Amino acid sequence: MKKLKNPKLTIRMKLFLEFTLKGEDFWDICCDHGYVGIGALKSNEYSNIHFVDQVPQIMERLSQLLKQTFLRLDEINCHLHVLPAESLDEEIKGNVLIAGVGGLTIKTILDTLLQSNKLKAKRIILSPHTDEAVLINYMISAEFQNFYKINSKEKYMEIKKCRTVYILDALSVQ
Ligand SMILES: C[S@@+](CC[C@H](N)C(=O)[O-])C[C@H]1O[C@@H](n2cnc3c(N)ncnc32)[C@H](O)[C@@H]1O
Repeated sequence: MKKLKNPKLTIRMKLFLEFTLKGEDFWDICCDHGYVGIGALKSNEYSNIHFVDQVPQIMERLSQLLKQTFLRLDEINCHLHVLPAESLDEEIKGNVLIAGVGGLTIKTILDTLLQSNKLKAKRIILSPHTDEAVLINYMISAEFQNFYKINSKEKYMEIKKCRTVYILDALSVQ
């Protein structure tokens, strides 16, 4: 089998991990290559790492990369979920990262999980690539503000584009 490229964290990915709460679960939602979750796994600073992506081929490749990187998958606390994130059917605790997708997708995922009572994360880290206004309007809506508040937002540069990362905290430990 062809050896996959060794995952390397970019400055942007390191920034996402800096904002996380250590000792908690880490959910890499819309993970694609899974590099952020792999970085989290390597750090040994989280309880469980969850990778979520809706494309089976992407998750098959990620599974190969995890086997190549960690050899014994049964010895690491990682879980792969191959489905649209809004269909997750278990409680999502600790940290949630959703980055590299549009604001509308992020809104749909968060709203659906809140409505199904699955979203119990203490911290949510979001970095939309498009439709940012849609996400902002959602984050300041009463329906969302009943559960989460914006703790801070940071700017970072990515291939000459200025991006924002939003750090949100749960109003109460749920
Ligand atoms: C551009 S990649 C982002 C990769 C990574 N999060 C990052 O920021 O570097 C977008 C990924 O989101 C996944 N995706 C889009 N909508 C999704 C959804 N509703 N549920 C799960 N995965 C989704 C796609 O399959 C794709 O792999």
